Amino acid sequence: MRIEPFAMERMQSTWENLVDYDMSESGVRPLTLRELAAMGLDIEALLDTPLGYSQSNGTLELRESLAALYPGATVDHIEVTNGSSEANYIVALALIEPGDRVAIETPNYMQYPGLVRSLGAQVETFRLIPETGWQPDWQEFERAVSPGTKLVYLSNPHNPTGSVLSPEAMRRIADRCNEVGAWLLADEVYQGAEIHSPRTQSFWGMGGRVIVNNGLSKAYGIPGVRIGWIAGPPSFIAQCWSQHDYITIGPNKLSDRIARIAIEERERCFARTRAILQHNLPIARDWVASFDGFLEWTEPAAAALTLVRYRSPVPSIELAESIRTRQSTLIVPGAQLGLEGYLRIWIGGREEYLCEGLRRIGVELDRCRSAV
Ligand SMILES: Cc1ncc(COP(=O)(O)O)c(C=O)c1O
Repeated sequence: MRIEPFAMERMQSTWENLVDYDMSESGVRPLTLRELAAMGLDIEALLDTPLGYSQSNGTLELRESLAALYPGATVDHIEVTNGSSEANYIVALALIEPGDRVAIETPNYMQYPGLVRSLGAQVETFRLIPETGWQPDWQEFERAVSPGTKLVYLSNPHNPTGSVLSPEAMRRIADRCNEVGAWLLADEVYQGAEIHSPRTQSFWGMGGRVIVNNGLSKAYGIPGVRIGWIAGPPSFIAQCWSQHDYITIGPNKLSDRIARIAIEERERCFARTRAILQHNLPIARDWVASFDGFLEWTEPAAAALTLVRYRSPVPSIELAESIRTRQSTLIVPGAQLGLEGYLRIWIGGREEYLCEGLRRIGVELDRCRSAV
């Protein structure tokens, strides 16, 4: 299968460990094993664990605790994966056939357009609108999601804007998918990373063809263990398990164990995430304001990132490149997220890191501003 480059991930994979400040990240600064031990992870038991294969679709214990998060779900509704990126990948492999139509919001995380195109699907997009707090443009949505649409992909809370769909918008999206017979894949990896608002509602239960993907990387703050999951109808999950057999077989044993603690102690993980983001949001707000209108944003409601618009015709890839080469600081140019004229900036780090990263980005933005 020929696949087009995933521009943002490739850029991050190339540079994230070589720059002084990686402000292209998107989760909160990660938990350590010591912090997880304080939550109940038995490190001694890990030392004695034979490093064999684990249950390939996730241990029964882990799937039981995940199923409990989704009303009406059983262990047969859950497939545990290596990160939510693998969850997304497996869903596409299990569903998409050449000629299928897939509807995707823009901007977005951008794993899906390249992936489903490589499987022969045609991508149709609908915009999220900044003036409405990044809710969908409904005319475009209804054009993109129409009879014959196979799958709709969205993330909620949303990467890259940090917005959350209103309950009415969620209902309207689910109703439209039900009406036209489309599958809805809701990538909910930021659920639990709300900054001030209550927990984001899940799409789970809003239709017979709803698939929910999630994982430990963002709201839980544990990307390094690479655990994600798919929740969906059992017949569909069985197909996902078959796909998994061909790819990575299953998640690793230590990660499965760590995930069990993380799920049990999720409210502690989410509280830590919220505290980090509540601390950092005002720093980002003051920084945006310090540009006197050259930068604009809609404050993120969730997620450890923000999308800022800059008032200059300089292409975002060029601007991001000057920030990397002159300031050794990595950010994501909007062009890699489907929205030119914007930059995505991480707000999930320690205060000193955030402030210095923003300062460095600001040096190049000032240069850009004075050239306008
Ligand atoms: C919306 C969304 N989905 C999936 C992923 C993949 O995350 P992981 O594979 O670490 O769970 C990301 C990572 O940034 C993301 O933002």
